[in-house]
Amino acid sequence: MRTVGERGPTTLENYQFLEKITHFDRERIPERVVHARGAGAHGYFEAYGTIGGEPASKYTRAKLFQEKGKRTPVFVRFSSVIHGGHSPETLRDPRGFATKFYTEDGNWDLVGNNLRVFFIRDPLKFPDMVHAFKPDPVTNVQDMQRFFDFVSLTPEATHMITWLFSPWGIPASYRQMQGAGVNTYKMYNKNGEGVLVKYHWLPKLGVKGLTQAEANEVQSTNFNHATVDLFQAIEQGDHPEWELNVQIMSDGEHAELDFDPLDDTKVWPEDQFPMLPVGRMVLDRNPQNYFAEVEQAAFGTGVLVDGLDFSDDKMLQGRTLSYSDTQRYRVGPNYLQLPINRPKKHVATNQRDGQMTYHVDGVEAGENPHINYEPSSLGGGLHEAPQSEHKDHEPYVAGNLTRKKISRTNDFKQAGERYQAMEQWERDDLILNLVNNLKICKRDIQERMVSYFTQADAEYGRRVAEGIGLSSASSNGANGADRSNGAATHASATELVKEGAQH
Ligand code: HEM
Repeated sequence: MRTVGERGPTTLENYQFLEKITHFDRERIPERVVHARGAGAHGYFEAYGTIGGEPASKYTRAKLFQEKGKRTPVFVRFSSVIHGGHSPETLRDPRGFATKFYTEDGNWDLVGNNLRVFFIRDPLKFPDMVHAFKPDPVTNVQDMQRFFDFVSLTPEATHMITWLFSPWGIPASYRQMQGAGVNTYKMYNKNGEGVLVKYHWLPKLGVKGLTQAEANEVQSTNFNHATVDLFQAIEQGDHPEWELNVQIMSDGEHAELDFDPLDDTKVWPEDQFPMLPVGRMVLDRNPQNYFAEVEQAAFGTGVLVDGLDFSDDKMLQGRTLSYSDTQRYRVGPNYLQLPINRPKKHVATNQRDGQMTYHVDGVEAGENPHINYEPSSLGGGLHEAPQSEHKDHEPYVAGNLTRKKISRTNDFKQAGERYQAMEQWERDDLILNLVNNLKICKRDIQERMVSYFTQADAEYGRRVAEGIGLSSASSNGANGADRSNGAATHASATELVKEGAQH
């Protein structure tokens, strides 16, 4: 430090000091608007060359799946969703499971969660949902009355809530959780024929969730347990592994199903759509720098390679704008030039300049650096993509522009099946967690929630109702529950009693 005399003021030409402090002042970037708390690791994906025993080429021409033993480097970021950057990893929340495959055709990002379904099926509701779940704008504290206020007016969330308030809502570690693409994607083959696909990561260590009591115990001594567990396991050579499975359905409406294949509040029953293994993933290298690799990592649902596609899933399409948009703000317009995000294969665009430009397309490839446009006869620049040797996947789409919602809502049946599939200790924990959180809510919120649980499963509704002191209303309400069609309804438990009495 340069000062006027030993005790005097500092001066403005203290260049090193000014540089150091002003850089320090800018060490943070905006945290992710959701999924702010996370941990990441590098590894590889190894293909089986087959999908459910058939050559992978039957369903997709994506190169990473074709040959048995073929390895593709990956980077995975696990996360929790609602709270900020250093929030406890013991909180009840879905967990993110985002994988970046650095394939020879460019990057493929599979941006999933540990739970197989989601709260909503309309992307327009996403910001409202996040606002209701995030801390209250006045107190800055998460308020479960706001949370259940939103959920109690969103019957399609009942299935997700049934997963989330069970031990699945607090994974014991990142290594012991599943991943799911949640939204419906497509694969297409060399003939351009497409199928609908759901992706699943199944952990070799099996799935383990914590009861609320167990999570409280962990949190009392360690609120970083998931990050520590992942980092230490990899450091010690105990490399976590997952198998990638797909469920496949022919493309179409599937009127025979009691749910819409494009509805992300539903699972595809495994007895009808079995899990088909396609490869395995091993994480074997920790990041060298958390900020450069994990914080600046940018995943998006639009990042696909030849052979993989979107479906018409509205949520998926809503997500696809959001990710790269937020990343241009959060990391900067040239976020794709950073080593963690940059494809290993050179991908040419005519995009130029902007803050922090480092790389100029085509220069390494020896192309003419004067040309950043097309068409051009001078060489360089990106020209129209060459015609693929294969047939394009060209689904036929026609219809009026409408504001119609998915009509096969069936909001409660799968929630009931989930409840019935749980072991007794899981159900007990689910009920306890719902009761403890709903206790503080207003009566009408409680009644709406009980009516949903009752429509899912009579015992489920009765136990929650008893726990929060609504017992008579909800147990009668169970008689009127319509589990077969599960039509969206905001009927309160009391209204259901009336309906039940008429039957
Ligand atoms: C319309 C619905 C959705 C919207 C608008 C949305 C938007 C976002 C945004 C803006 C981010 C922050 C990205 C960043 O800063 O890099 C994010 C992160 C994330 N979202 Fe979504 N999201 C939606 C639904 C979902 C669903 C259904 C899933 C689960 C399959 C999901 C999984 C994730 C994951 C895992 C991350 C963290 C990625 C990472 O580790 O960097 N999101 N989402």
